[in-house]
Amino acid sequence: MNFIVLKDIFKSYGDTSVLRGLNLEIQKNDFTAIVGKSGAGKSTLMNILGLVEYFDAGHYYFGETEILSGRDYSHLRSNQIGFVFQNYNLISSLTCKEYILLPTLYSKCPPCDVYNLAQMLDIEHLLSMPVGVLSGGEKQRIALARALVLKPKVIIADEPTGNLDKDNKNIVIRLLTHANEDGCAVVLITHDYYIASNADKIFELRDGILHEKYL
Ligand SMILES: Nc1ncnc2c1ncn2[C@@H]1O[C@H](COP(=O)(O)OP(=O)(O)OP(=O)(O)O)[C@@H](O)[C@H]1O
Ligand SMILES: [Mg+2]
Repeated sequence: MNFIVLKDIFKSYGDTSVLRGLNLEIQKNDFTAIVGKSGAGKSTLMNILGLVEYFDAGHYYFGETEILSGRDYSHLRSNQIGFVFQNYNLISSLTCKEYILLPTLYSKCPPCDVYNLAQMLDIEHLLSMPVGVLSGGEKQRIALARALVLKPKVIIADEPTGNLDKDNKNIVIRLLTHANEDGCAVVLITHDYYIASNADKIFELRDGILHEKYL
């Protein structure tokens, strides 16, 4: 059964029409990668999927729930979705551990073991440091740990490997694959076909719709 269904989704900003009748179906165990040129609308699509932005027209089903404009979906966002933003705004005064545990403030779900998660991402030595002093790649891994801490049903990751070297890219991919094998759907945006090739399905976002790619 499909877990997420987008049907004929339209989204514009003023005169800029970004999504033009986009369709996407995601099942619980899917690992989906989305590629596309800069400005194609990938982050717009992620923000809609992650219930951060509304769409103008079309239908979006998240599990049993039809998503309707103007309603509050913070309960779904905090309990079921792990979101890794492209432009991660990390609150700099928090320690890494506090930052990773932030989602637990708004949720009754039990978190996973932060130290264990940090070890898998090779950031355990950073846990007591303020987030503000970290390098770009370290911040990216902290942001991923935060997205994973509540074991979400879907991870929506917008360029989670953009700032990383090859070893750290592999760490991130291994972790996402691990979460996916544990039953979490993964939707990943990337410019990098090496990263995309880890997914079960690859789509290119072009002209406001998704085109499946067969590598
Ligand atoms: N809040 C906004 N207000 C106005 N225009 C926007 C807004 N968000 C995005 N856009 C425009 O929508 C288009 C798609 O932007 P989007 O960020 O989704 O692209 P992208 O595919 O993620 O690009 P990149 O690969 O560079 O991150 C761009 O032309 C952008 O300028
Ligand atoms: Mg983007």
